[in-house]
Order: sequence, then C-alpha cells, then structure tokens
Amino acid sequence: MSAILPPSQRIWWKEPLDRVELMWIIIAFVWCMVMFFMMPYWHVYGKQNLSSETYRTTPEMFAKKAQAMVDKYKVREETAENIPVVAPPAGSDVYLIARLWAWWPMLELENGKTYRLHLTAMDYQHGFSLQPENINVQVLPGYEHVISITPNRSGTYGIICNEFCGIGHHKMVSRLYVK
Ligand code: CUA
Repeated sequence: MSAILPPSQRIWWKEPLDRVELMWIIIAFVWCMVMFFMMPYWHVYGKQNLSSETYRTTPEMFAKKAQAMVDKYKVREETAENIPVVAPPAGSDVYLIARLWAWWPMLELENGKTYRLHLTAMDYQHGFSLQPENINVQVLPGYEHVISITPNRSGTYGIICNEFCGIGHHKMVSRLYVK
C-alpha cells in the first residue's frame, strides 16, 4: 500500500493486523497503563510532590492575616522596597503574598521546625518556586494554598515566580532564610 495512491482495497481497515503493528499497539497500551498508574503511585511515594490544602479566601482577608504576622514578628527590613523580614515562632502559620511583582514579606524560619506556609496571589496567577530545592506551587488569586514545610538545611533560599505574570515577571524574586 502506498501513502500517496488510494488503497487498492476500498475497505482497507478490515485487513488483518500485521504482527509488528499488533506488537506496537500492545507496547503503547502497556506504557499508557504504566504512566497512568505512576500518577497516583508517585503522588504517594514520590519525594518531590507537595500535598497542599486549598481554601477559598479574598485578598483582603489574607492580607489582614499576613499584616498581623508582620506586625508581631518583624525583625528587620531588606531591599530598596523595604520588604519586612519576619521570624515567626516555630510551628506557627506563616503567610506569603504574591503580587505584581513582588513577594511579601520575607520569611526567616528555623531549621528542623515545621511551619504551615499559606500562599495566595493578590491579582493574577503566580508561581512559587523555591530554589535550589525546586519546590513549585501554583499561586492563584482567591485561593489560600497551605503546605506543611520543615526546612532541613540552613541557608538562604531563593524564591522566584515561575508563572509568567507580565512585564515585571523576571523581577519577582525574593529570599527565604533558614537559621
Ligand atoms: Cu509573578 Cu511571574
């Protein structure tokens, strides 16, 4: 059969399957199944996946909670924009706001302690990406994403926005301190 000429048999699809063709169908099907079952398997056993809780919120409600945390636990300010750095107590709820084009505030956490990190966006969709750990969370306006985090290495981490959010996207960077 040629790909250019019309098939000699008009009902060409009723021809018996070639062995090679059948083999490929089986291989493709088995691989599909492997990929399909890897999704739930990797969600449970894979180390890189975060299981986050998500709640409805509004920018006003979330900003109030973040502001309360900053008022209580601010230790200093950094950068030309005077972004507050907060050192909340171990085990507490910590809040991080994504907006055009900054993260607010900066967090200073303790090594080995567990925190509940709350994330939201004030305006558009942003992406929370913690470097060099490569932890990624989509941050959506109207939603409060909560993840439990336990830093296990001291140092300064970078936070970058990994969801294109406009002209200042590349400037949407911040830091996270672990002491
Ligand atoms: Cu925020 Cu890109």
